[in-house]
Amino acid sequence: MNISGNTILITGGGSGIGLALAEEFKKLGNEVIVAGRTQAKLEVAASKGLHTLTVDMTDLNSIDSLVEQAITLFPALNVVIHNAGVMKNEKLIGQNNSQIAAETIATNLTGPIQLTNALIPHFLKQKTAGIITVTSGLAYVPLAMTPTYSATKAAIHSYTQSLRYQLQDTHIKVKELVPPYVRTALMGARQAQDDNAMPLEDFVSEVMSILRDQPTTEQILVKRVQPQRYSASEGEAKYKEFFKKQNDMLMNARKKEWDAL
Ligand SMILES: NC(=O)c1ccc[n+]([C@@H]2O[C@H](COP(=O)([O-])OP(=O)(O)OC[C@H]3O[C@@H](n4cnc5c(N)ncnc54)[C@H](OP(=O)(O)O)[C@@H]3O)[C@@H](O)[C@H]2O)c1
Repeated sequence: MNISGNTILITGGGSGIGLALAEEFKKLGNEVIVAGRTQAKLEVAASKGLHTLTVDMTDLNSIDSLVEQAITLFPALNVVIHNAGVMKNEKLIGQNNSQIAAETIATNLTGPIQLTNALIPHFLKQKTAGIITVTSGLAYVPLAMTPTYSATKAAIHSYTQSLRYQLQDTHIKVKELVPPYVRTALMGARQAQDDNAMPLEDFVSEVMSILRDQPTTEQILVKRVQPQRYSASEGEAKYKEFFKKQNDMLMNARKKEWDAL
């Protein structure tokens, strides 16, 4: 995938990783459309010279209407980054999490699938095209505190492989961006200030270098996410050890937040 000269739609691009990627892609000479549901965030994006459209990724009609508008206004649209996502704690004992689980699946899994279905016919008519899904290190080693979130990211990893296989004889290239823990407000203010999270600028800068230097890579893996990504290849015992260590450490570090649920 070329990293300039595209018309790129980024869902949830009004904040965090999506907004930072949008700004980088614009600097490189791409037309960038940021789609989101919060007007205030879209106004910030517009003030940075990005195009904006409204979408609620939990609403299939809203996704269809986004695609209709995007194709009408930006007929050269040829890349989508499925970045919108929600991540919430779910205590599975003593709490009813149906609402959180349904919202998480709709936003992180059904939404990107629907958007992909709606865009493929248009992308097939373009000269070059790309679909970038956004998973997480937690697709490979789940965080037990966010079970539905981790499951949706594992599901998107699976879906991405099937999508790539079915599109292999077309010009639509499929990539998976796998962020580690990054300093954004995905889980609120605590994450946005957490020194243990990778600084957003460092993450985006490494992602852009990978896209530039390894144009055919199927997975965009910054160094920090590689231990999680490859933990299963170390064998079952090592994987179990990694899983327990990660979950014990984070459950301990976030005990206050967890107990307050
Ligand atoms: N930061 C990390 O540690 C990390 C790690 C691994 C993967 N990721 C993934 O990276 C992506 C970006 O997350 P981020 O860290 O940049 O957090 P973020 O700033 O909260 O970005 C998520 C974006 O998705 C939007 N969004 C959520 N629900 C939506 C909906 N129903 N319709 C439209 N937009 C919606 C949010 O907008 P609203 O506020 O309007 O809802 C927000 O702009 C997510 O897919 C996340 O799972 C992040």
